[in-house]
Amino acid sequence: MVTTNEYANLSDNEKTVLGIISELETRDKDPKTNEITISESLKITLTGEGIKKLKMISEKNIDSDSAINSLIAKNLVVNDEIGLKLTSFGGKIGKVIRSKQMSDWYNKNLLRCAKSKAYTLFCEKVFGKNLYQFNVLDMDQLETLISILSLNSNDSVLDLGCGLGKVTEYIQLKTGAKLTGIDFAEQLILWAKDNTEVNEDMLEFQVGNINELVFPPSSFNAIYAIDTLYPTNVDDLGVTLAKLKAILKPNGQLGIFFAQIIESKEQQHILEPNQTEMAQALKDNNLSYTVIDFTQNARAIWEREITIGNELREMFEKEGNLDLCEERIADGENCVYRIDNQLQIRYFYHVSRI
Ligand SMILES: C[S@@+](CC[C@H](N)C(=O)[O-])C[C@H]1O[C@@H](n2cnc3c(N)ncnc32)[C@H](O)[C@@H]1O
Repeated sequence: MVTTNEYANLSDNEKTVLGIISELETRDKDPKTNEITISESLKITLTGEGIKKLKMISEKNIDSDSAINSLIAKNLVVNDEIGLKLTSFGGKIGKVIRSKQMSDWYNKNLLRCAKSKAYTLFCEKVFGKNLYQFNVLDMDQLETLISILSLNSNDSVLDLGCGLGKVTEYIQLKTGAKLTGIDFAEQLILWAKDNTEVNEDMLEFQVGNINELVFPPSSFNAIYAIDTLYPTNVDDLGVTLAKLKAILKPNGQLGIFFAQIIESKEQQHILEPNQTEMAQALKDNNLSYTVIDFTQNARAIWEREITIGNELREMFEKEGNLDLCEERIADGENCVYRIDNQLQIRYFYHVSRI
């Protein structure tokens, strides 16, 4: 168990660098060069020199060499012939830092979306309705989820990573089921509580980390995750699914929207519906599933994000939110490129009758 003291004793630079190493350790490396692909134009090795090339380090002028040296002195990191590696204790603190960095990022950026008129309009035009989506889920996909889960007022349902909670509220209103949304970003949960109108008996929001689920066994008839259950967000997909299985009632269901990205065409088999990281984790848990391919639907959404992002650029800029708009356009361009080059897919996995 990592104590808050050990975490608090690190300087901000040490936390940033430890968080970066922890995140980079989860990524695939080129087996020949040991390089990790950061973007189309940037590949780095997990070394002091590699880390210096990251925007987060160079833009903030962080002295990463000195942070790495003190992390080594504190026995949190080792430097061997291949590069930097976290010690087992460094790995534990790394996870705490990553989780905090990610929830801070979501808190900040999703709250900005919630306050932005341009983002409201963006969602209406891209997704067909403004639910402050921070996902690739248009109303067709959302209605598919609702119809496949076929929920009613006797059902109790968990939304994993509910963000601002408007999708959760929409599903509650459409189905009459009791919905619980959890998210590790505290500010989003506060916003969701203040900005949804359904009675708390039927719609509840809680701060919670998917890695530390606290619900008793057999709590839910259905659990769904919209663009949340990813190896970057949870410690281990297989372990997470085992925990979800335990908190589902007998005959419970799972609905998961999942995108798989690969770095090179040699990995293309991983894009097969039964070979993705999610499919592997489901099979490891003996969970049989059906799959719907939403790749072309997602491509159309990304195309709209580019067009609508460009249309609303001035409005975003006047609000001081140009970066929000530019990130969506850049993401859209990357995703369309990857889909067209068979480097990305989007599937909906449905597990019925656990
Ligand atoms: C891409 S957003 C999707 C939000 C929402 N589901 C939607 O469809 O608009 C991912 C959400 O998952 C939350 N999240 C990521 N990792 C999490 C974790 N380990 N535990 C709880 N929430 C997490 C983030 O704070 C964020 O709100």
